[in-house]
Amino acid sequence: MDLKWFLVRRITLVALACFAMGAALAIYETALKAKRQNAELAEMAGRQLELQLSRIGRSTDTLQRFPDWDLITSLILQPGQCVELRNSAGATQNLNCAGLDATANGTPGWFLWAYRALINDRLTAVRSVSYRGVSHGTIVAQYNAAATAGHTWASVGPLLGFAAALVGVLCLVTYFVIDRALKPTKQILTGLNRLTRGDLAARLPAFRLRELNRISEVFNALSAELGSVTEERTALARRLVDTQEEERRHIARELHDDVAQKLSALCANAAYLRTRVQGEAPALAAEARDLERIASEAMLTLRRTLTYLRPQEIDDLGLVQSLEALVAQHNASSQGRTEYSIETSGAVEKLKAETSAHVYRIVQEALTNASKHANARSVQVMLTQSGEADGAKIHLSVVDDGVGPGGQSNSNGGGAGLIGMRERVVALSGKITAGPLPSGGFGLDVEFPTLQRSA
Ligand SMILES: Nc1ncnc2c1ncn2[C@@H]1O[C@H](COP(=O)(O)OP(=O)(O)OP(=O)(O)O)[C@@H](O)[C@H]1O
Ligand SMILES: [Mg+2]
Repeated sequence: MDLKWFLVRRITLVALACFAMGAALAIYETALKAKRQNAELAEMAGRQLELQLSRIGRSTDTLQRFPDWDLITSLILQPGQCVELRNSAGATQNLNCAGLDATANGTPGWFLWAYRALINDRLTAVRSVSYRGVSHGTIVAQYNAAATAGHTWASVGPLLGFAAALVGVLCLVTYFVIDRALKPTKQILTGLNRLTRGDLAARLPAFRLRELNRISEVFNALSAELGSVTEERTALARRLVDTQEEERRHIARELHDDVAQKLSALCANAAYLRTRVQGEAPALAAEARDLERIASEAMLTLRRTLTYLRPQEIDDLGLVQSLEALVAQHNASSQGRTEYSIETSGAVEKLKAETSAHVYRIVQEALTNASKHANARSVQVMLTQSGEADGAKIHLSVVDDGVGPGGQSNSNGGGAGLIGMRERVVALSGKITAGPLPSGGFGLDVEFPTLQRSA
């Protein structure tokens, strides 16, 4: 729920509770007073009637004038108050009431209802009247509910009205003050969204409210820290993949300069041996031919390994043609089971040598994975460049329509290929997603800026 409405609702609820308590207190106080007045009235009326009975006993008054309320009604009966004399059977013998005053008319219905429900009958005062041990009935003094409620309302009504207006104004002020105070939260949200999208340059301005300003400071420190950690990570990843490349080049050089030379020499020696012993020892010649064949096969394997370790084509042919050659190799070895294709657009040829090498390696691993795990009918490579100058980006996707991860029994999911790809993408300051596609198959998606931050 919106914080403004939340606070306004809370204030209104608290105010309503205060109103109810205030009204209850006012009703209680008026009721106490009314009860006291009823008790006084019953007591005085009782004494008055007992006095009259004594006068009747002394024949200074007559029984016809009993009960004589004149003095009582003129002196102590309040507006809305009634006093009556009931006989021993409880029947009213004589009832005297004072009329309601104007205050009773303005009482709202709900207040009258609440008053009746809470108080009404509890205020009645009762007193017996007796003379010389003989009971002459019971005096009952009570108030008309409308009268006491009217008195109560007259004293608390204006106060409640004023308080209601005050609460209204308070709610309004709270709403607008909170609305104004929370404006910076929109900026904070925008900053957080930028950070989520990977924009580590996002910073927040200083805010007037201390709490929000603290958030701004923490946010700025966090994004600065995140920026430097990301840069460190990129630099590390770059160093790691560079070292890997360097190691591969070294192994390739050793294999080429040493093992390959020795295999060539072995091949040549075996050929020489074969020709020398062909006439005299045909069995030895056959052995020499076998040796020659094994050395040639080892040369072929070695050449394939060398191509994998050090794809010369990128330097010689450029990235696009090297990738096309890679795709052609896969097409040739799949023998029609899978159709590999590639599409490129934009200035992808202008990428730096190391960047091109990373792209090549990523595609190489993705195609190897597709051939190993996907059992696909088609595998599509797409390499595009978009945007201009500093904002230019490279987008690479390799998508297949195969069985997806886990679809093959030999897929253990714990290889080093995807990890290597991620390291390369981090080194390129880019983003990578790899996984099953909703439509089936497997998709790899890589995006990175053409201008990487320097490590
Ligand atoms: N195109 C694909 N189709 C189906 N599953 C795939 C595909 N590419 C990757 N995977 C799944 O992802 C897992 C991880 O791939 P990764 O390249 O890291 O390891 P690997 O190929 O099994 O081993 P390595 O690459 O180390 O030889 C694979 O084992 C496979 O389950
Ligand atoms: Mg792999």
